[in-house]
Amino acid sequence: MTDFAAVLLERNGEGATSARLARLAEADLMDGDVTLAVRASAVNFKDGLAVTGRLPVVRRWPMVPGVDAAATVIASDDTRWRPGDEVILTGWGVGETHLGAWAGRMRVSGDWLVRRPPTLSPVEAMALGTAGVTVAAGLERLARHGLSPADGPVVVTGAAGGVGSLAVLLLADAGWSVTAVTGRPEEAERLRALGAAEVIGREPFAGPLKPLARERWAAAFDTVGSTVLAHVVSMLKPGGAAIACGNAAGMDFPASVAPFILRGVSLIGVDSVRLPAAQREAIWQRLSETVDRRRLAAMTQVIPLDAAIDAARRIVDGRLAGRTVVAIGNLDG
Ligand SMILES: NC(=O)c1ccc[n+]([C@@H]2O[C@H](COP(=O)([O-])OP(=O)(O)OC[C@H]3O[C@@H](n4cnc5c(N)ncnc54)[C@H](OP(=O)(O)O)[C@@H]3O)[C@@H](O)[C@H]2O)c1
Repeated sequence: MTDFAAVLLERNGEGATSARLARLAEADLMDGDVTLAVRASAVNFKDGLAVTGRLPVVRRWPMVPGVDAAATVIASDDTRWRPGDEVILTGWGVGETHLGAWAGRMRVSGDWLVRRPPTLSPVEAMALGTAGVTVAAGLERLARHGLSPADGPVVVTGAAGGVGSLAVLLLADAGWSVTAVTGRPEEAERLRALGAAEVIGREPFAGPLKPLARERWAAAFDTVGSTVLAHVVSMLKPGGAAIACGNAAGMDFPASVAPFILRGVSLIGVDSVRLPAAQREAIWQRLSETVDRRRLAAMTQVIPLDAAIDAARRIVDGRLAGRTVVAIGNLDG
């Protein structure tokens, strides 16, 4: 029977999480109708929470982290999938309730898979990953809300991070004038190269909250939450909308209702984990046709599996920039 390398998370008697590189066998995999050979994964904030135990995202022990996978089908009892098919999996609780993608093999439900567009390599697919799906879903929600670049600039918080960097790239490509907010001034040049018209620090989003601050942005893409999002909402133009997709600074939202009732602004949540399959397929097709591969590569680093635990610890401290792809199997083609 094939054994394979995996990152294994365990919990000790005191509830502390430990992470180590281990070898697992196919018999260790969970139930599912499709078995995958993983080619690449990514380091997402949620993987950082799982590895460090900072928030209780893991609900089954032991666990393999990794919420994103680019993989090849090696066995299938699902008539939609055949050995040799190239697939992408993002979300659906992998790395939380179901063994994740930081492993040579996975066994999953066929319902969770999307065909990998042939024009995207495994590394490109994982450079996008959950982050790309989230940003694309957020862009759809802004458009459905009736907002377009003609309405004014958009602000992206946590811009140097994975979701933030992709938001800068995809919003700028969609024609928006992007203000990127980062606590890392050394990332400003990279953010401008991704398409940011302006790069500013976190200072305007800290300190005492004015219920109605100066109107600055038509839209916002927030990966940070907490007081940062509260300040963002207070600065939206009348009729503007903020996409709330992250909690890098915390789960709380200490805001005023004034912008909602006096400027008619909206707060729109995006959850990529349970997006319907048809919407995911449409998103991947569009991303494969539109994403600027050169700039995507410039914001992506590729690391081996044995460096993933350290990268997970760094992402929750805001010390990873752009997207980090984890190389696991064959990355060619
Ligand atoms: N809704 C969904 O479906 C979905 C999908 C994917 C991810 N997410 C969430 O999106 C968030 C970002 O994920 P990611 O993978 O992009 O993580 P990441 O790479 O660590 O990016 C988060 C960024 O937030 C900023 N930040 C961190 N702590 C902060 C603080 N205390 N105050 C202000 N800014 C802070 C940092 O940006 P700067 O250094 O530039 O300031 C950091 O790089 C996470 O909460 C993640 O769980 C949600």
